[in-house]
Amino acid sequence: MRSDTVTLAGHSVHRMGFGAMQLPGPGVFGPPADRPAALAVLRRAVDAGVDHIDTAQFYGPDVANELIREALSPYPDELVLVSKVGGRRDEQGQWLPAQTPEELRSGVEANLRSLDVDRVPVVNLRRMPESDVPFTEQVSAMAAMHDEGLIGGIGLSNVTLDEYLTARSRIDVACVQNAYNLTDRSDQPLFDACAADAVPYVPFFPLGSAFFPDNPVLSAPALQEMSRRLQVTAAQVALAWLLARAPTVLLIPGTSSLSHLEENLAAGDLVLDEEALAILDAAV
Ligand SMILES: NC(=O)c1ccc[n+]([C@@H]2O[C@H](COP(=O)([O-])OP(=O)(O)OC[C@H]3O[C@@H](n4cnc5c(N)ncnc54)[C@H](OP(=O)(O)O)[C@@H]3O)[C@@H](O)[C@H]2O)c1
Repeated sequence: MRSDTVTLAGHSVHRMGFGAMQLPGPGVFGPPADRPAALAVLRRAVDAGVDHIDTAQFYGPDVANELIREALSPYPDELVLVSKVGGRRDEQGQWLPAQTPEELRSGVEANLRSLDVDRVPVVNLRRMPESDVPFTEQVSAMAAMHDEGLIGGIGLSNVTLDEYLTARSRIDVACVQNAYNLTDRSDQPLFDACAADAVPYVPFFPLGSAFFPDNPVLSAPALQEMSRRLQVTAAQVALAWLLARAPTVLLIPGTSSLSHLEENLAAGDLVLDEEALAILDAAV
């Protein structure tokens, strides 16, 4: 695994992390198909040097956090757990907003309980566009929980450039976690702002997500062609391309598979040359 690091809420973390969203059952709902395998993926990630794991209490709900606790607690000092608040699930697994200041606080408390920690190192305020709760009220609620010591750092997720700039004028933004990958660069302006401000940018859906059956990233012709040329997998090219986009990019590819985990970790060592980067940059 590559050795370079980025500072995340005061912690130095490797650029290759892990996303826990693929560990619960289908649709990120209910228990995993293979619990020992899910625990093994988490333990292997940390054994291999992963010190940044992204999760949410509403993955499962509670399933991802409880797997993390069972596999990794007592947590290594260097491990930075990043969770998020702003959503909840109903009994059928529907994703619902939980955006009011009171719901954000309940979300942090649920993470403290299920992860069994006194403070969550970083919590992302995950915006839901359909919510009409004023953004500044949410930022104030997060800041209050930070001041109380419940949250080590405040991140933002699914935010616009304007929201990022508003938050940045009021708080230290620990990181931004938005959708961004080879075939979806609609967030480029905010990506660039984070790079200019040296704020860690954590792209979600780095491999095109499990939600889209015809994975638009892994099936992209330019990626397939580069994977053949370099004799590595398409996923590895997709991850190496993201790492090359800016030194502040932190990756959290999600997988429930040990072999995919090994593949993704190895992508940290893949350096794409100028020609390969130019081809991939121009691919979409
Ligand atoms: N803030 C937000 O709103 C938000 C939204 C979505 C996700 N996230 C976070 O971002 C993380 C990453 O996003 P994601 O998990 O949704 O999507 P992703 O990492 O883009 O893709 C996950 C999908 O790729 C597959 N995969 C993983 N490694 C692979 C490999 N080497 N080769 C082929 N397929 C591979 C996984 O299947 P297998 O399990 O079979 O490997 C899964 O179907 C999540 O885990 C979560 O922590 C945040």
